[in-house]
Amino acid sequence: MQENRCPIAVLISGSGSNLQAIIDHTQDNRIQGDICCVISNKADAYGLERAEMANIPTHVVPHNDYTTRENFDRELIKILHVYKAKLIVLAGFMRILSKVFIDKYQDRIVNIHPSLLPKYPGLDTHKRAIEAGENEHGCSVHFVTTDLDDGPIIIQAKISVKSTDNPEQLAKRVLEKEHIIYPLAVKWFCENKLVVKDKNIYFKNNLLDQPILLTKEYEQELQ
Ligand code: GRF
Repeated sequence: MQENRCPIAVLISGSGSNLQAIIDHTQDNRIQGDICCVISNKADAYGLERAEMANIPTHVVPHNDYTTRENFDRELIKILHVYKAKLIVLAGFMRILSKVFIDKYQDRIVNIHPSLLPKYPGLDTHKRAIEAGENEHGCSVHFVTTDLDDGPIIIQAKISVKSTDNPEQLAKRVLEKEHIIYPLAVKWFCENKLVVKDKNIYFKNNLLDQPILLTKEYEQELQ
């Protein structure tokens, strides 16, 4: 890996479509970084195949093999250390990380969540948004703290909820936005344009007092 490129580790549990979006953007240099490894807690995660097709080293760390959350996390840290990972990207990684892990990679772990946080942390976000009669829904990329789906929000993308939407249809449209905002946030981090100090995010040297909202202009930064 070249010195000016950020080593990015991606943690997954499933399909890995967000992983794929980041692979695509690193491979054609729209992100100034490279994925150094992909780790899955599930051996059958399709994302592992995506990584192998892109010649990225993969590791499976089955969480059931560890008696405590901390021991599982220590194993992840061991692997990440070998690859000198600088940014940790959680992409559909269905495990809660302990303080051991979060302290080790403080302000360098990002997650994507399929809702407009702080609304709908946790699971079944699309179903819950429809049931609540929301007109708007979307996704968020945030830095990870010890609280579930909490932590300073970097960027969000909004979509309209149609009266005919079922959770699957809504999830599909949200996922399309995830595949834009996640590579964008990773790109900014790799260019040192996103820095956290005392739980505040500085974006391009300015304090971010609310999450960035995806616009066409920001989307163009990925072209
Ligand atoms: C995404 O909707 C993400 O927001 C959520 O899990 C899903 C993962 O999808 N955390 P994929 O594995 O990236 O396809």
